[in-house]
Amino acid sequence: MNIYLIGFMGVGKSTVAKMLSDKLDFELIDTDIEIEKRENRSINEIFSQNGEEYFREKEKELIEELSKKDNMIISCGGGIIKSDVNIANMKKSGSVVLLEASPEIIYNRVKDDNNRPLLVSNPGIEGIKKLMKEREESYNKAFTHKVDASKTPVQVVNDIITATLTLGDEFGNIN
Ligand code: S3P
Repeated sequence: MNIYLIGFMGVGKSTVAKMLSDKLDFELIDTDIEIEKRENRSINEIFSQNGEEYFREKEKELIEELSKKDNMIISCGGGIIKSDVNIANMKKSGSVVLLEASPEIIYNRVKDDNNRPLLVSNPGIEGIKKLMKEREESYNKAFTHKVDASKTPVQVVNDIITATLTLGDEFGNIN
């Protein structure tokens, strides 16, 4: 079984994924980092040189490949849920955990970040709300578990472990 972390940009997927993989001793993959490695260029460069559609194809190939593996923590780019094929591949191979936070929290976390092509135009809280709304249905279709990501990363990790693992106390919570 894999654990996929999904949710809007800036919700804390990468931080939580790293902590989860340390805790559970599962291999960690961040889809953005993996695509950047394979393409040998940044997400910004991929978007500006080949367009979003190309990037989405790369995401799709990667999710398909990862869905055949086991015991991985997969931190997914925020737009992974735009593809129904991705949703199906994730659901058939693990738990899909949606991290949720308010547009205000997200805005504060991403406002100084230049690595996200969809936010370079500085959409502000209103822009973030709009994109969240557009994606709401897809996120809701994709998740098998939902956690409140306005909590601290440690709390979020513990909530994910409690929600997804039914293996008794083998893993336990972290302090
Ligand atoms: C995107 C989210 C980004 C990255 C790309 C597009 C999106 O990942 O995949 O910039 O469409 O929401 P993070 O959610 O890790 O920022």
